[in-house]
Amino acid sequence: MNLKITVLAGDGIGPEVTTQGVRVLQALATKYGHTVKLDDALLGGCAIDATGEALPAETTVKCAAADAVLLGAVGGPKWSDPRAKVRPEQGLLGIRKALGLFANLRPVKVYDALIGASTLKPEVVRGVDMLIVRELTGGAYFGVPQGKSGERPNRQAVDTTPYSEAEIARLMRMAFELARGRRSKVTSVDKANVLATSRLWREVAHEVAAEYPDVQIEDVLVDACSMYLIRTPTSYDVIATENLFGDILSDEAAMLAGSMGMLPSASLGEYINRHGFRRGLYEPIHGSAPDIAGKGIANPLATILSCALMLRWSFGLTAEADAIERAVERALSDGLRCKDIASAGITVLGTQEMGTAVVERLEN
Ligand code: IPM
Ligand code: MG
Repeated sequence: MNLKITVLAGDGIGPEVTTQGVRVLQALATKYGHTVKLDDALLGGCAIDATGEALPAETTVKCAAADAVLLGAVGGPKWSDPRAKVRPEQGLLGIRKALGLFANLRPVKVYDALIGASTLKPEVVRGVDMLIVRELTGGAYFGVPQGKSGERPNRQAVDTTPYSEAEIARLMRMAFELARGRRSKVTSVDKANVLATSRLWREVAHEVAAEYPDVQIEDVLVDACSMYLIRTPTSYDVIATENLFGDILSDEAAMLAGSMGMLPSASLGEYINRHGFRRGLYEPIHGSAPDIAGKGIANPLATILSCALMLRWSFGLTAEADAIERAVERALSDGLRCKDIASAGITVLGTQEMGTAVVERLEN
């Protein structure tokens, strides 16, 4: 198979981690007889510096032409003045919207070898294996009106959280389909005791659930969910929720796994690529980590695992995806760690060395 991938390295540690992701993809492709055709484009702060825009038109064109997109991270202090007209994050939101990537899949798996890396007790996090399915192109992130107006002391700001039935239904369908390949349970998270959008969410969630009698559905309020996530996280299989709740809960859930440096994500839309699978954008859930950028110490595993998700969801290459995940698991059980997940007495690997360790552990 010919894998046509556009790489958006972005800012901060983005280029360092995507370099390792691409290395692993290429090594794997060679082993399995695939070819990788790479293209790169600017997104975020680096795009603002070069063109004045966070999402140059050329980037959208290149991403739309690819079967899948690999993204590092965007943002950094250089561009974070709240009064700035353009912000790197607009690039990220813009490309999600432009490609119609309405479902953000964030698997949270606690590796046995890393149980000690979590701040929570081992008996709480052992066996955690959940998939957060976050709605990605609706809600407060894109609702209008949005903005600030007025002068001191009468300044005001407004955000709007719209959701349509169609937006909720397609996200819930994706969640139910995914649950079928897992433990057949969907937890729909909302704030139906307060928000109108949440009441519609719950209604539609149950209508969709009726199409999946083999899958269990439960409703949990978002505040309660944030508590259960650290109390009994193993009770969750698939969590389906709206954009802002999903953003918050997925960072919380990330800490079950010890570090943001471990967690991959996939953003999928309706569009089917020429291989008959969904075009998607794959990125680590961590940010650009400006404090460690350029030092060669960032953990590339979240990006490498994102490449595994890409092989699975955009190319249907299950064996290849499994091979990457197994190689990562072996590197961890061999005691290899980057700084973010290292404990005392362990030899810490740099970004590139961790990439090498994974490449060396790829089997046929
Ligand atoms: C994420 C990030 C983004 C989001 C930011 C950088 C705009 O936090 O991917 O979770 O809120 O979606
Ligand atoms: Mg976030």
